[in-house]
Amino acid sequence: MLVQRSADILSSEITSESAYLNRRQLMGAAGSLALGAMLSSCAEADSTGKPETSGSSHAGALDYSSAEKQSQSGFYTDEAKTPYKDITAYNNFYEFGTDKSDPRKYADKMVVDPWSITIEGEVSKPGTYTLEDILKPHDLEERIYRLRCVEAWSMVIPWVGLPLSDLIKQFEPTSRAKYVSFETLYRPEEMRGQRSRLSTISWPYTEGLRMDEAMHPLSFLAVGLYGKLMPNQNGAPIRLVIPWKYGFKSIKSIVKIRFTEQLPSTSWNKLAPKEYGFYSNVNPSVDHPRWSQASERRLPSSLLNPRRIKTLPFNGYANQVAGLYKGMDLRRYF
Ligand code: MTE
Repeated sequence: MLVQRSADILSSEITSESAYLNRRQLMGAAGSLALGAMLSSCAEADSTGKPETSGSSHAGALDYSSAEKQSQSGFYTDEAKTPYKDITAYNNFYEFGTDKSDPRKYADKMVVDPWSITIEGEVSKPGTYTLEDILKPHDLEERIYRLRCVEAWSMVIPWVGLPLSDLIKQFEPTSRAKYVSFETLYRPEEMRGQRSRLSTISWPYTEGLRMDEAMHPLSFLAVGLYGKLMPNQNGAPIRLVIPWKYGFKSIKSIVKIRFTEQLPSTSWNKLAPKEYGFYSNVNPSVDHPRWSQASERRLPSSLLNPRRIKTLPFNGYANQVAGLYKGMDLRRYF
């Protein structure tokens, strides 16, 4: 992220099915038919990004009848979805290298089954839980969100997952929990970026949110995209998606969730505090010290067709989230 690559986009083939997690594994993780049902329902979404209106009736299927309401709440967008091959070939996942093509090349080394998440800190039900146990009580849903990277490119991604607030409620945070932090897998033997002597990040990658941000209906934990299991390079088996913040807040491959009274330290903020703030809300009027944030390249883009568009405050989700920051100086708390 510290180094901005040139505008060329890989045009590699769609990653083969065999590169994904075993589908049955995630269906098992859901503990019900919900995920399997969801994955096929989501695959039916049409190419404009609008879900089809004929949702199936089994448990966990999407309720498409309320699509308009969902769209007002910011859960869906009518903008054209970024093709699957771009979402899965142009990635930031520094655990596998700093080049956009590294995660797709190397992330299949990451073992994602079995997977467990440790819940700790200010919470009534701490412990280490398997992904299966964590997902079991939840139905999965689709969200079509814009993802705006701090490097000034963006995508539109159809995620599958669950509201972060549902997971948080499951573990009953205490009244002292003011923040929640997240940690990515630390396994240098599988993650070449963590072994690299050139790496500037102090591993494991960590991120954090204020509790009210985490409980906001837009905050999402994704286990798949485009109706398929989450590809490793996109943060399998479970990652955060916070659509109104720069993409680096959306931490991948989560193994720890900690509830705290104090503001947690976060990887990019620790590395370059003047460049990457704790809040990192998308804000076209506060430039990164080394480049403008006023516009973005909507991927896929090319030199001939740069697809440059204006960046919107809170990445277009201001109606939903601006209230969280009422009275705050967003230049100071960037
Ligand atoms: N999470 C981890 N663990 N490591 C990372 O390097 N990169 C972040 C975020 N989550 C990153 C991460 C950045 S900078 C962005 S823009 C998004 O992931 C990119 O997500 P994508 O590759 O699925 O588009």
